[in-house]
Amino acid sequence: VLLDDASVLVTGATGGVGRALCARLARRGARLVVSGRHRSALEDLASATGARAVVADLSEPDGVATLVAEAGTVDVLVANAAVPASGQLTELDDAEVRRALEVNLAAPVRLAHALLPGMLARRQGYLLFVSSLQGLAPTPGASLYVATKFGLRGFALALRQDLHGTGVGSGVLLPGFVRDAGMFAGTGVTLPRGIGTRSPDQVAASAVRQIERDRPEAAPAPPLLAAGAYLSGLAPGPAGAVQRLLGAAELARAVADAQRSSGA
Ligand SMILES: NC(=O)c1ccc[n+]([C@@H]2O[C@H](COP(=O)([O-])OP(=O)(O)OC[C@H]3O[C@@H](n4cnc5c(N)ncnc54)[C@H](OP(=O)(O)O)[C@@H]3O)[C@@H](O)[C@H]2O)c1
Repeated sequence: VLLDDASVLVTGATGGVGRALCARLARRGARLVVSGRHRSALEDLASATGARAVVADLSEPDGVATLVAEAGTVDVLVANAAVPASGQLTELDDAEVRRALEVNLAAPVRLAHALLPGMLARRQGYLLFVSSLQGLAPTPGASLYVATKFGLRGFALALRQDLHGTGVGSGVLLPGFVRDAGMFAGTGVTLPRGIGTRSPDQVAASAVRQIERDRPEAAPAPPLLAAGAYLSGLAPGPAGAVQRLLGAAELARAVADAQRSSGA
C-alpha cells in the first residue's frame, strides 16, 4: 500500500509506540487520524503531525462506532491501542478482564469489520494489528494479555487468507520489549542481561515497511528473542520449563506490579 496521501487511522496514537508510528507515517505523507481517550494529548500530537484527532474510549460499547463515524474514509488501519492487563488472572476484577478483551481484541476486530467494506469497494487498503511476541509465546504472569495478543495474531493472519486477491492486505506486528517509552519502558523494570530491546522508532519503521510491502508478519525484536518466542509457540511444554529456569515469572511479577501500581 502506498502511504503517500493515504488516510491512516492509528489507535493508541498517544502511547510510546503510537507516537513513533505517527511520526514515521507522517514523514511518508500519510493523512493521519489519531485516536485515544485523552483530548489534550491527542491534540498536541495532531498539531505536531498534521493529524486529525478523534477521542474515543474503545472499552465503551459505542467507542468503535464513534471512531468509525468520525474517522471518515480509512485506507490503512493501525490497530495499536492496548492495555497491559498484566498479573495473574485471579488478581483482576471483572471490569479489568472485560476492558482488556474489549480494547485489545474486540475493538480491533470490530474496527476491521466496519472499515473493510469500504476498503474492498476501493480494492485497496491494509489492516495492521499490533500484537506482541506474547502473541506467539505463552509467557507466565500475563494470561489475559497473552490471550488477546494470540487472538489478534490469529485474526490478522486468517483474515489475510480471506482477503487474498482483493487488493486489501492484513498483517500482524509482533514487537518484543520496547525501550524508552510505552507500557514496558514505563515500568522501569531492568531486563535480565542478554535480553535486548528495540526503540519505538525501530518498531515503527518495521510497521511502515510491513504496510508498504503488504507483509503478513513482522517481529521487531532481537533475533534470538524472536526465535525463542516462535519456538515457545511450537513447544509450550519444554518452553515453559526453560522460562521457569530463566526467571520469566519473576520478571512478569515485577512488570505487573509496576503496571498495576501506576494504574495501567
Ligand atoms: N511497549 C512494549 O514493550 C510492547 C511490546 C510488545 C507489544 N506492544 C504493543 O504495542 C502497542 C502499543 O504499546 P505501547 O507500549 O505504546 O502502549 P502505551 O504507551 O501504554 O499506549 C497505549 C495507547 O492505547 C491507548 N488506550 C488505552 N486504553 C484505551 C481505551 N480504553 N480506549 C482507547 N485507547 C486506549 C492509550 O491512550 P489513552 O490512555 O489516551 O486512551 C495509548 O495511546 C500495544 O498494542 C502493545 O500491546 C508493546
